[in-house]
Amino acid sequence: MLLQIPDVLSPEEVAECRKALDAAEWVDGRVTAGYQSAKAKNNEQLPEDHPIARQIGDLILRALERNPMFMAAALPSKVFPPLFNRYRGGQSFGTHVDNAIRQVNGTPHRVRTDLSATLFFADPSEYDGGELVIEDTYGVHTVKLPAGHMVLYPSTSLHHVRPVTRGARVCSFFWIQSMVRDDGKRTLLFDLDLAVQRLSEDVPDHAAIVQLTGVYHNLLRRWAEV
Ligand code: NI
Repeated sequence: MLLQIPDVLSPEEVAECRKALDAAEWVDGRVTAGYQSAKAKNNEQLPEDHPIARQIGDLILRALERNPMFMAAALPSKVFPPLFNRYRGGQSFGTHVDNAIRQVNGTPHRVRTDLSATLFFADPSEYDGGELVIEDTYGVHTVKLPAGHMVLYPSTSLHHVRPVTRGARVCSFFWIQSMVRDDGKRTLLFDLDLAVQRLSEDVPDHAAIVQLTGVYHNLLRRWAEV
């Protein structure tokens, strides 16, 4: 499932973060790339332990915890501390698959990457190019979202970022280990969740809502690893 989540951060939060990000010192993005993706990667990144990265990363994590759509779609077990990248002057990231396991810098913690997330910190009007292109079994999807919006997609997908030919594309990117690792099962649960929510609004007292909620939880019990 590929899902766009609007307004993860407010315009005020985005503006505040951008001030700090624009003033920070960026390094070559290949520092966090695996062997295969280092050959395709050409961008800048904030060092993982940069104080600005940690500060804004925590803001993002708190915003995600409050976001019902993210919680329902991702069913998160662990979220990798958000990283930040910037593309400008023709920079791009060729087709790759994200590493399956990421170690959190300086800790023994590992995150299995079930879902990849990109949160936009620049508006589409600020730059040309820079589309995130994701290939999955349903075809090719091109994503370029307003600042503060986020895209969530299966980490199993091949993806690339097109060259940025004007301005700068500033984003946060990170991975989620889900309680339900299989994308098909997770998508079914999300669909069921949304359907129960709609039913609860339209016919709040219908007995089938309790039954369907039971089905949701019993499937989650069957499939979730915590
Ligand atoms: Ni990637």
